[in-house]
Amino acid sequence: MAETNAAVNQTKNHPYYTPQVDSNGSSINADGSSSGVDDPIPVIDYSMLTSDDHNQRSKTMQDLQNACLEYGSFMVINHGMSDSLISRVYEALAKFFDLNEEEKKEYESNDPMDRIRWGKRDSDLVSSEFIKMVVHPNFHCPTKPAGLTEVLQECIKRLREVGIQLLRGISTTLGFEECYIEKRMKLESGCDFITPNDYPLRPYSENQLGQAPHYDPGLLILLLPGLSNGLQLEHYGKWINANPQPNSIVVSIADQIEILTNGKYKSVFHRVVLNNNVRRISLPLFIGPSLDTMVSPLPECVDEHHPPAYLVKTYKELLEANQYHEIDVKSCLKNVR
Ligand code: SIN
Ligand code: FE2
Repeated sequence: MAETNAAVNQTKNHPYYTPQVDSNGSSINADGSSSGVDDPIPVIDYSMLTSDDHNQRSKTMQDLQNACLEYGSFMVINHGMSDSLISRVYEALAKFFDLNEEEKKEYESNDPMDRIRWGKRDSDLVSSEFIKMVVHPNFHCPTKPAGLTEVLQECIKRLREVGIQLLRGISTTLGFEECYIEKRMKLESGCDFITPNDYPLRPYSENQLGQAPHYDPGLLILLLPGLSNGLQLEHYGKWINANPQPNSIVVSIADQIEILTNGKYKSVFHRVVLNNNVRRISLPLFIGPSLDTMVSPLPECVDEHHPPAYLVKTYKELLEANQYHEIDVKSCLKNVR
């Protein structure tokens, strides 16, 4: 067993590391099972990131660095978004997904670049529904149900503030000036989008997932994870259940931070499992630069021992290569990694 873990760790440190998946892309456990291990992801107390207490702040920075290196994902508490706002977000999204299919089809599209895009992941292997909306620099939202725009605008404003502050923390943990990544990626004109997901209450087959294993495009993903568990992350060759605390935000390192850091902070491989007992609605915010921004390893992260390990691409090309909502993660990764 020790030998297996050592081998996995060694491979994982390689910039071209790709986790093992089985023929339907769903299992990477050494024993072939697809169930998750309860190993809660690290907790970051957001209020301490900007604390006046120097010791508290540097301890939180250390926690943040460890979380980025060890898990690539962490849950954020004390983030300043009220429980009632989070409940209103889930309620408004449920009303959207409950619209009849004809109304949602107005937004149906196969073009990943569309500013509003509704679709279903619907096969023997995956089952869920999503509505993608570009929310920055301009906010796009379906016109129904009434109130959706307002509640999402309020929520995303706060999520984005938290995300930018966390990127400042991440910049600091890498030894850079606080706003380095933000300025370099010109985030004031960045292209951010959300893809709320609905995993409705219905009987699922044993092999079905809510989302197939994938990496996320963007710098950082901030997820309102819904009222029940479902998100699993790959951690040293095993799926672990993220099991976030109620109303925490799950934050994950995405592809562009991996590229910028030349593989030091890795994008998280993750998937969604389904349950037959309760409906789950989740809301991820993808923070990224504008579509024409070139993304390549930062010069500070490249030296003779760490040659550039990623191709130079624009964010648009990375989004297209990632094909976020397609099941064939393996072939699309070849284009990026
Ligand atoms: C979720 O946990 O439902 C969303 C995960 C994702 O968007 O990858
Ligand atoms: Fe994802």
